[in-house]
Amino acid sequence: MVARVSTVAFQGIDGVPVEVQVMVAPGRVGTQIVGLPDKAVAESRERVHAALHASGLALPAKKVTVNLAPADLPKEGAHFDLPIALGLMAALGAIPADALSDYVVIGELNLDGTIAPVAGALPAAIGANAIGKGLICPAESGAEAAWAGPDIDILAPRSLIALANHFRGIQVLSRPEPSIRANTMSLPEMADIRGQESAKRALEVAAAGGHNLLMVGPPGSGKSMLAARLPSILPPLSAAELLEVSMIHSVAGQLSGGKLSDRRPFRTPHHSATMAALVGGGLRAKPGEASLAHHGVLFLDEFPEFAPQALDALRQPLETGECIIARANHRVTYPASIQLVAAMNPCRCGMAGEPGHSCARGPRCMTDYQARISGPLMDRIDIRIDVPAVSAVDLIRPMQAERSADIARRVASARDIQRSRFEAAGLAGLGTNARCSTAMIEKYAAPDSAGLQLLRDAAEKMKFSARGYHRVLKVARTLADLDGNETVGRIHLAEAISYRIAGERLTTAA
Ligand SMILES: Nc1ncnc2c1ncn2[C@@H]1O[C@H](COP(=O)(O)OP(=O)(O)OP(=O)(O)O)[C@@H](O)[C@H]1O
Ligand SMILES: [Mg+2]
Repeated sequence: MVARVSTVAFQGIDGVPVEVQVMVAPGRVGTQIVGLPDKAVAESRERVHAALHASGLALPAKKVTVNLAPADLPKEGAHFDLPIALGLMAALGAIPADALSDYVVIGELNLDGTIAPVAGALPAAIGANAIGKGLICPAESGAEAAWAGPDIDILAPRSLIALANHFRGIQVLSRPEPSIRANTMSLPEMADIRGQESAKRALEVAAAGGHNLLMVGPPGSGKSMLAARLPSILPPLSAAELLEVSMIHSVAGQLSGGKLSDRRPFRTPHHSATMAALVGGGLRAKPGEASLAHHGVLFLDEFPEFAPQALDALRQPLETGECIIARANHRVTYPASIQLVAAMNPCRCGMAGEPGHSCARGPRCMTDYQARISGPLMDRIDIRIDVPAVSAVDLIRPMQAERSADIARRVASARDIQRSRFEAAGLAGLGTNARCSTAMIEKYAAPDSAGLQLLRDAAEKMKFSARGYHRVLKVARTLADLDGNETVGRIHLAEAISYRIAGERLTTAA
């Protein structure tokens, strides 16, 4: 008899259905796993044997064949242990064979028969729900899987014995509850920043429209400090975004305790990060930092210190909103709709352009350093600002800065305006002006005549690329939204253009 158990193989954040077929037949004693298993899956034979033995189930002296169908789909990871073990138990009659037909199964086995947590429980549960099945997953992954829907049947046992007892009706498992992570840790506060009014304004604009931002300034001027305060003014994730973001974190195995959080991701990879760490990939395909920052912020501090190749790998995700990784025999796609925030010094010594400072290495210090960032990458940054050192007067003056909550309110209402505009156009998925298509932005950000004149002059004088032109329009649209204005005026365009000029110096260096 062949026992069949449904499971999944992950491709990107989708769970592709896989059927585990187990046959116990007379022949040479041993177990064989076929169907393109990787090393972890091939090793599952040893774990399954030990776990069944520990659970008191003796294997017969027969030949066991395990097939993972479809045979041409690569199977990666350790989550095939549990479906293989359950298939074997069903083939041996230790659990009723039809008990498993309504479930998709994932889980890793320990040698003592307990079930270890695995990555990807949430997408597996969503996939199972879509085909009208329930999910059997490890106890630790239950809370995360429960987010797939209120109706889906979830069994989250601690061990093989607990599951067998459930099927025999001796000890019934209760459905796990979805849990949300309490946002107990308070975020850094904008009011801590003295002075830097124009940088704070740029941060607010970037937050309101989801625009990419670059801050350039001498050491200690507060760039890292400013960026760390961006999460405190961003609106929380919507329900749909929350689920999308959590699916990626689930596949990456980064949902601690299976609890979801509605805070926007804020990822700060170190500048030694490799290309695979940033955009995903590696031996076993995993989402990179760009995907983990989906619907949130990817903050690259000390921007030019990143490997140029790794930075340029971000060009495609910044444009399309997804990371596509080519593997030997297939392609994997992870969503990566991100807002890039970067900070850098103007040169290696960090003091270029500072009054009263002269560098021994002259202008080369600056050009060499800035040339590490390619022109096309720079072209994708909508808002570029200089962050000069704060004066002592600003630091000594008593604090009366605006608090994060007040700024967050303005950001939220600007985002509401954008959302309702996109919903009216039937594009509810688009959240921010930054994500808007070029045809749409030309329609929604059509400036008045004075604005048009200014834009024409500036585009001619500064030789905007087509992308640059559209990005100026997008920022101008956000500025008008922050003002609550229906039309984009000259004042909005002037500010948007000023954000682009600040970085023009950098583009010429690159
Ligand atoms: N505007 C400011 N208001 C209050 N404190 C500030 C301000 N700017 C800088 N500081 C203080 O200086 C410290 C260093 O700032 P920060 O690390 O943000 O500098 P940076 O611009 O990122 O420098 P680097 O280029 O060396 O990375 C902060 O932790 C803070 O204590
Ligand atoms: Mg810094």
